[in-house]
Amino acid sequence: MEISTFNIVGCGRLGRAVAKLFLDAGIVADVRVINRSLQSGKAAVQAIGGGGAHGRIADMPPSNLWLVACGDQTISEVVEMLAREATFSSSSVVFHCSGVLSSAELAPLRARGCSVASVHPVRSFANTEMAVRDFTGTFCGVEGDENAQVVLKEIFSRVGGKVFSIPSETKLLCHAGHVFASNYLVTLLKVARDLYVSAGVPEELAWHLMEPLVRGTVDNVMRLGPAGALTGPIARGEGHVVATQRDEIARASEQCAALYEQLGLLALDIAREQGLSEDGCRSIRRALQVSE
Ligand SMILES: NC(=O)c1ccc[n+]([C@@H]2O[C@H](COP(=O)([O-])OP(=O)(O)OC[C@H]3O[C@@H](n4cnc5c(N)ncnc54)[C@H](OP(=O)(O)O)[C@@H]3O)[C@@H](O)[C@H]2O)c1
Repeated sequence: MEISTFNIVGCGRLGRAVAKLFLDAGIVADVRVINRSLQSGKAAVQAIGGGGAHGRIADMPPSNLWLVACGDQTISEVVEMLAREATFSSSSVVFHCSGVLSSAELAPLRARGCSVASVHPVRSFANTEMAVRDFTGTFCGVEGDENAQVVLKEIFSRVGGKVFSIPSETKLLCHAGHVFASNYLVTLLKVARDLYVSAGVPEELAWHLMEPLVRGTVDNVMRLGPAGALTGPIARGEGHVVATQRDEIARASEQCAALYEQLGLLALDIAREQGLSEDGCRSIRRALQVSE
């Protein structure tokens, strides 16, 4: 598809980086942006290093590629506005980059003849320059209309993205995978730090203690899978250790003890996969206070 103008509604952290990637790669010749305020639109144009800002959607030129990159909570309101006021060329492709919302959010634009999709680049866009510099190799989950998917997969591949398809219906579950792999990993490391500190280990030493453990464990899981990587008292079926440890944690924090029990049960599934005996499994379940 020949694209001359790329229109972006909501050109903040992600919009600026995507615009710059497409411009620098020569995929688009011009970028037009609209933000809540014209001043913010002009700042975006300056950060991108080209293009122009508009005050009203109706003033944006016709385009066959549109990105809706306002915050997720305003996408539906912006889409309604676009459906009423924008000029689309025939075969326009419209996409958003939310990780949790699907292309269904763009349905009113499908009714205007557009082909719609979502592309979720799995990375942080906190800083435009860094996001552009480090974009190569970024995984991009794509779902939506066939035509839009074909166009967007080609464009995002050209700027270094590793595109993959996700079913629209399971997109939120796929995002939950990102939450566990990233956000909850951060949370777990904070829990570990708190337990070290409760045990009297100075905080700085706690981080040093954890670092080789965390890096080594992540490497092992990636190389060997969970069943190859799990070690420790649950893998060995040492119920007495698990029970005493659970009670000790409860003295420091009931919330952490509850987490220890829940994660322990999931770890037990892995231990069973490793071949832990029935006796070992029973002893761990008792230690985690699960009635038989
Ligand atoms: N940031 C990330 O790391 C990241 C990563 C992956 C996916 N995403 C997705 O990318 C999208 C954008 O996120 P972001 O972090 O780039 O957001 P952001 O930095 O907060 O930028 C949002 C932009 O949208 C503009 N905007 C808000 N409401 C508008 C409206 N009604 N009309 C026109 N413009 C409007 C804002 O304009 P003003 O400046 O005038 O307020 C702002 O420039 C979201 O769907 C998000 O889920 C973000």
